[in-house]
Amino acid sequence: MQKDGECGTIEETAATRTGGGSVRAIAANRYGDNSVLNVADVEDPKLGPDTIIVRTRAAGLNPFDWKVLRGYLDGAFPVHFPLVPCWDVAGVVEAVGPAVTGFQPGDEVIAYDREDHIQWGTLAEYVSVPVRCAAPKPPELPWAEAAALPHSGLTAYQLVHDGLALAPDHTVLVHGASGGVGSFAVQLAGSSGARVIGSASPGNHEYLRGLGVEPVPYGRRLVDDVLALAPGGVDAVIDLVGGAALDAVPALLKEGGQIVGVTDALRLKELGGRYLFVHPDAAQLTDLGLLAAKGDLSVHVSAKFAFYDAVAAFDQIESGHTRGKVVVEVDG
Ligand SMILES: NC(=O)c1ccc[n+]([C@@H]2O[C@H](COP(=O)([O-])OP(=O)(O)OC[C@H]3O[C@@H](n4cnc5c(N)ncnc54)[C@H](OP(=O)(O)O)[C@@H]3O)[C@@H](O)[C@H]2O)c1
Repeated sequence: MQKDGECGTIEETAATRTGGGSVRAIAANRYGDNSVLNVADVEDPKLGPDTIIVRTRAAGLNPFDWKVLRGYLDGAFPVHFPLVPCWDVAGVVEAVGPAVTGFQPGDEVIAYDREDHIQWGTLAEYVSVPVRCAAPKPPELPWAEAAALPHSGLTAYQLVHDGLALAPDHTVLVHGASGGVGSFAVQLAGSSGARVIGSASPGNHEYLRGLGVEPVPYGRRLVDDVLALAPGGVDAVIDLVGGAALDAVPALLKEGGQIVGVTDALRLKELGGRYLFVHPDAAQLTDLGLLAAKGDLSVHVSAKFAFYDAVAAFDQIESGHTRGKVVVEVDG
């Protein structure tokens, strides 16, 4: 990654930050592939009345982050440049706005820092976070695992708890079970007592078994393989893949079965299902953090990247074949 020659060191930047200076970030000045990302000094995060300034320890990556960079969300969100990508953060509260009561400087927090526009994301030394997006980080949770939790964990939580009504005698099929969202969704669905079948390539089957999932490969034999495990079909489908995975649903879902997904709103509606777009929820994020801290929710970080190696982290998440989560360590 090209380093901006105008930048000072991270320590110098931090020392001058409160004086109306700048913070070090990974930023893009235009849409493009992952190589448009560079180390840059960007303006200090703003401390709004109901925001906190967080010193970033780790930022979690999600497929949305490379899609934002390509311009794929341009029609859905106002996007401004320079653009600092990423929505997930784990870090330490540096300052709190005058209306904030729940946090104070020094607190360890996690956040799904999604706002109504996209510009100042979490791949920065310091980030401004609305309190509605933030939750306490349990001390037992390491920084990388904490940063891996917000976006994917909330998506899984909202799919399982808001999108479906599961019962212990249900069988759930999760398409895309071994990725960021899938790894959490299979565990949350399983903790409702339901039986969980999950699709992934064979190399991820042992991993899925460790999460209590009965794995099936995706591809031509998907319908046969699922019906071999659940001859009467499944009671619910969580779709994280779209395309052929959704095409298989009519052959697999029992009459009256439930379907919820995050990729193809139109097709989900045609199938009688529900499309979900994850939203920040501090109470749900607090719950997820506690589950992870107690060991009731496993957080699998398959790759950690250094701040200066963020492009490699983007290449990994763009591959579409990440097991669990990818994290960038911003301040080790
Ligand atoms: N609407 C929303 O609010 C929302 C929220 C979160 C995510 N999303 C979207 O949901 C999708 C999944 O997100 P994610 O974070 O879980 O992605 P991810 O971490 O990149 O997921 C990668 C996983 O998908 C598996 N996979 C790839 N192709 C597959 C196929 N044809 N069938 C089954 N599994 C397949 C891979 O398994 P193998 O390596 O074994 O192939 C890998 O484990 C992305 O498109 C993302 O943008 C939407």
